[in-house]
Order: sequence, then structure tokens, then C-alpha cells
Amino acid sequence: MPNTESSDRHFFNSFSLILGILIVLAVILFVFARMIGRDTQGREVLLDPMRLKDVQQNIAPFAHAAVAGHDNSALAVLAAPKSDAPAADVPTTGEQAFTKVCSACHSLGINGAPKMGDHAAWGPRIAQGKDALYAHVIAGKGNMPARAGTTWPDATIHMAVDYMVSLNK
Ligand code: HEC
Repeated sequence: MPNTESSDRHFFNSFSLILGILIVLAVILFVFARMIGRDTQGREVLLDPMRLKDVQQNIAPFAHAAVAGHDNSALAVLAAPKSDAPAADVPTTGEQAFTKVCSACHSLGINGAPKMGDHAAWGPRIAQGKDALYAHVIAGKGNMPARAGTTWPDATIHMAVDYMVSLNK
């Protein structure tokens, strides 16, 4: 049993050596992969078939011609949302309205807008009463344009104000 210790040490040394080589190899492979990726990754992403399909859809012409004797049913589908597009633009809940438009200024408090969750900023404003708040949003106030720049009816503005007030009480 005299050389058990030296054979242990020998094993440990070669084991560490191999481990070290593997780690260095892994680092080299990683760097190599990044070098290849730098040139090709962007191209792969840009030429991805699903993305190209998306782009095609986005740049498809708006106008379509009906052709006699062909199946023109696709045109009917395209025409349908057009007729009620303004209605679809109006959110149906206060939360939707907030997410769509109001949050642009109010979630971060841009341009002096009272920030969501800033109770100190909201307290005195809420104290004016909801009717005053409705009127100020509809007429515009300070850096906030009339109706916050939308064409929404009063009822929608009221819902949005109610929603914001409910979160800042
Ligand atoms: C372009 C940025 C902007 C957008 C978008 C915006 N606001 Fe404002 N809002 C402001 C600013 C700025 C003020 C502070 C006006 C002041 O007191 O000078 C304000 C103030 C308010 C107040 C307090 C008014 C008062 O009487 O003190 C309410 C309520 C309010 N906004 C609701 C809304 C609602 C609801 C929407 C979405 C429909 C909205 N805001 C969208 C910028 C914006």
C-alpha cells in the first residue's frame, strides 16, 4: 500500500488537467460561436420566414379589386372592419382606455402629469370632485390636451378617470 497516496495524487493531477482543458475548450467554443453568431444571427432573424410573412402582411396594399367570376369573399372580410373602425377605436372599459392612452403620460408622470400611485399628487386633484376632473380631462389641462388627444365620447373619458381615481385614492 505504499504508493496509494502517490497514485491518488497522480489521478488528481491528471483529473484537474483534463478538467482545465475542458473548461478552456468550452470558453474557446463559446467565443467561436459568438463570432459566427455576430455575422449570421441578425441575418437569420431578419430572413426568418415567419417574420417575412409578417412584413408582407404589413406592406400588403390596402386596395383590392374584385374580379368578376372569381371568389371575392376575401374582400368582404376586409371591408367589414373598415365600416366600424371608429367604434373599435373606443375602449369599452376604463382600464382599456388607461392602458391605451392615459398610461403614456400618467404611468411615469411625464410632463408634470400626476403619476399613478403618487397619492400626494392625486390627493388634492381628487378632492376637486369627479365632475371637475371629468371637465378638466375633456377640456384639457396644462400639458394634457383636450380629451387627452382622443376623440372618445364623454362616457369613455369618465370611465378612464374613474379607473385612475380608483387606483390613486
Ligand atoms: C400627453 C400626456 C397626457 C395624457 C395622454 C393624459 N394625461 Fe392626464 N394629465 C396630464 C398632465 C400633464 C396633467 C396635469 C395637468 C395640470 O395640472 O397642469 C394631467 C392631469 C390629469 C388629471 C387631473 C386633472 C386635475 O383636475 O387636476 C386627470 C384626472 C387626468 N389627467 C386624467 C387623464 C385621463 C383619464 C387620460 C386618458 C384618457 C389622461 N389623463 C391622459 C397629461 C396627460
